[in-house]
Amino acid sequence: MLRMERGVFMWVFLLAVTFSLAVAYDPLDPTGNITLKWDVISWTADGYVAVVTMNNFQMYRHIMSPGWSLSWSWAKKEVIWSMVGAQATEQGDCSKFKGNIPHCCKKTPTVVDLLPGVPYNQQIANCCKGGVVASYGQDPASAVSSFQVSVGLSGTSNKTVKLPQNFTLLGPGPGYTCGPAKIVPSTVFFTPDHRRKTQALMTWNVTCTYSQPLASKYPTCCVSLSSFYNSTITPCPSCSCGCQNKNCIQSDSKQLSTAGINTPRKDNAPLLQCTQHMCPIRVHWHVKLNYKDYWRAKIAITNFNYRLNYTQWTLVAQHPNLNNITEVFSFDYKPLVPYGSINDTGMFYGMKYYNDLLMEAGPLGNVQSEVLLQKDANTFTFRQGWAFPRKVYFNGDECMLPPPDSYPYLPNFASANAAAAIYRLATSAVLLLLMV
Ligand SMILES: *[C@@H]1O[C@H](CO)[C@@H](O)[C@H](O)[C@H]1NC(C)=O
Ligand SMILES: *[C@@H]1O[C@H](CO)[C@@H](O)[C@H](O)[C@H]1NC(C)=O
Ligand SMILES: *[C@@H]1O[C@H](CO)[C@@H](O)[C@H](O)[C@H]1NC(C)=O
Ligand SMILES: *[C@@H]1O[C@H](CO)[C@@H](O)[C@H](O)[C@H]1NC(C)=O
Ligand SMILES: *[C@@H]1O[C@H](CO)[C@@H](O)[C@H](O)[C@H]1NC(C)=O
Ligand SMILES: *[C@@H]1O[C@H](CO)[C@@H](O)[C@H](O)[C@H]1NC(C)=O
Ligand SMILES: *[C@@H]1O[C@H](CO)[C@@H](O)[C@H](O)[C@H]1NC(C)=O
Ligand SMILES: *[C@@H]1O[C@H](CO)[C@@H](O)[C@H](O)[C@H]1NC(C)=O
Repeated sequence: MLRMERGVFMWVFLLAVTFSLAVAYDPLDPTGNITLKWDVISWTADGYVAVVTMNNFQMYRHIMSPGWSLSWSWAKKEVIWSMVGAQATEQGDCSKFKGNIPHCCKKTPTVVDLLPGVPYNQQIANCCKGGVVASYGQDPASAVSSFQVSVGLSGTSNKTVKLPQNFTLLGPGPGYTCGPAKIVPSTVFFTPDHRRKTQALMTWNVTCTYSQPLASKYPTCCVSLSSFYNSTITPCPSCSCGCQNKNCIQSDSKQLSTAGINTPRKDNAPLLQCTQHMCPIRVHWHVKLNYKDYWRAKIAITNFNYRLNYTQWTLVAQHPNLNNITEVFSFDYKPLVPYGSINDTGMFYGMKYYNDLLMEAGPLGNVQSEVLLQKDANTFTFRQGWAFPRKVYFNGDECMLPPPDSYPYLPNFASANAAAAIYRLATSAVLLLLMV
């Protein structure tokens, strides 16, 4: 059993090494990506009308407020006559147009979603969510965003249209790399009554993948550990998230009561509480109780950023016992099986309207839950930090774990395994006695 597990770890390790040179690879979500699909639905006098659909196929990485922004470069002298469900942030120089003025004349337009509540004539399906897109694992129905664009001065047939180039997706910060647009088989649509099929005149796809080092130089969260069997609390490593940000604020500072301290900035710059780790998020894993057949852990997530509420947050943990998770008390849980057979990874997320909002730093800035796991007698132990998670991700970014030699450890050598063995011996002795 152990040997097999080590083999698996080795394999994952080798995979990680092999892929570390590639731009993006997430071992816990190997096929995760965001796909942009352009469906040309009609040709016009000087161009085409396309519906652009963004599908977030990532299991646990969503796009938070203030939402996505997407830009690309036109291959020729195209303009955007109009848009539905989104808008270009700048019109650019349309001075050579008389009469009808385009919506955007820039060579490299930047497009953002509209806000909820815009008039119906500016909406299409899956638009107008302020650029917020759920992760596929948490809410597949909300993991999509679309808009319609009417393009002029482009080709007017599938032979003369030139695909847009150099796609850039901010979600909302950096981290995504988009590949080139590729012509794919035209999308087939069904009419609402499912009795008629229609087809896009032409379709192209762009795939964007996430890479954490591109998003930020330092981690954005850290993990601390504790247990019932040892009073040591293992804190987050110092400067887990880099200590270059010196503008932190003490938790007891009088400044915190001044108005506007929680107002988010345009550039989303955080205002952190001063801590030795300087992370906006800390995840605490506490091994709480040991029963005969079960054990219980408590997970708490704390926000240290005074300027950000985390909506639809996700927490991913990897632990070999997650295949026998019995109950999660106040989070939702979904197993992720990235390699089809190894069921050691799962996603925790907030319950709708209960704790899916992780509030700004302060007395309300935390969410917590307990999990009950059934022991597998072959692998279960409290020794060597086995009960602690192997990897933790918050909102799709990997959190810094303490070094293994600092984990709280069992005070004596009477391991749980030995105890279990003694218990089994005792029960079989009782059985023998009964049989006699
Ligand atoms: C994007 O994700 C989907 C769903 O996981 C997958 O089927 C597809 O192969 C991925 N595309 C690429 C180019 O990785
Ligand atoms: C193009 O993207 C859509 C999702 O937007 C996906 O369903 C389809 O499989 C993609 N096609 C190819 C050839 O990647
Ligand atoms: C796309 O980017 C490449 C490399 O940065 C550049 O050479 C090319 O001109 C760009 N294309 C357009 C249409 O801007
Ligand atoms: C363009 O359209 C013609 C039919 O109108 C079709 O035969 C051809 O395959 C299409 N080409 C591309 C690149 O989609
Ligand atoms: C967080 O949400 C609460 C309640 O909705 C709101 O009062 C507060 O201003 C928000 N904080 C930030 C930083 O957006
Ligand atoms: C993974 O384990 C969970 C229990 O934690 C179980 O509900 C789920 O069915 C398992 N999935 C697979 C593919 O084995
Ligand atoms: C734990 O999960 C594994 C695989 O999912 C299963 O074979 C085993 O029976 C489970 N153990 C217990 C004690 O439920
Ligand atoms: C608790 O764990 C720490 C290591 O983190 C260790 O130094 C300490 O000796 C342990 N305490 C006891 C009572 O064994």
